[in-house]
Amino acid sequence: MRIVIANWKMNLLSKDVEAFCAACVAGYKGKAGVEAGIAAPFIYLKDVKTKLGTCGVKVFAQNAYFEAKGAFTGEISMAQLKDIGCDGVLLGHSERRHIFGETNTNLVKKIKAAREAGLLPVLCIGETLEERDGGKMFDVLREQLAVLKETGPGPLVVAYEPVWAIGTGRVATVDQVREVHAFVAEELVKNGAAGTPIQYGGSVTPENFAEIIQVPHVAGGLVGGAALVPEKFLKLVEQAQA
Ligand code: PGA
Repeated sequence: MRIVIANWKMNLLSKDVEAFCAACVAGYKGKAGVEAGIAAPFIYLKDVKTKLGTCGVKVFAQNAYFEAKGAFTGEISMAQLKDIGCDGVLLGHSERRHIFGETNTNLVKKIKAAREAGLLPVLCIGETLEERDGGKMFDVLREQLAVLKETGPGPLVVAYEPVWAIGTGRVATVDQVREVHAFVAEELVKNGAAGTPIQYGGSVTPENFAEIIQVPHVAGGLVGGAALVPEKFLKLVEQAQA
């Protein structure tokens, strides 16, 4: 399976959400084996779900808490996401790890909770430039993927996003993508998650994606900036369908 997800992050307002969803309803053509999804801010999820209707584009949250319910002011549970029609949830995005202190320990609990609620978890991994330059890249990625030993098998997508490529316009080279995706695919086998789709993310645009999607073990994209524009998002989906 291939999967392209628009990660809106903390962007867009109601009127933009409405226009984006209308463009998807008008322009999205599904194809077997390729999924498309939108990871929207919590407050718009229900609206996005309703506005997308039956067009086939899936709806993802950008994070959630692992506890089922209770006194956790400001948090959202997996069951609540499922309740409003969410299909999946991004977990461990680099901005969550680096700005908000997300940990691998918490991610084990979040992946399990997502699966229990019937949501597809998208585990985001990636090294910083310092880690890459310091020769620690493979160790970091290995450790981030080791959470899968503790979660056990189940539905999963992994997104490889080099931190230095996110929002910088500096996309990884095809050789870098090839090297890391082959490594991630091997680690997934070791962790009992063989065959998990691996997305690439980090400054993906319609200009560079056609080449990236052809790299072995690349099964889609997690796209920020370019996917704030519906025409570009639909173009990226088409490239994954080609
Ligand atoms: P970008 O973001 O496409 O703007 O680099 C990707 C992401 O953070 O998921």
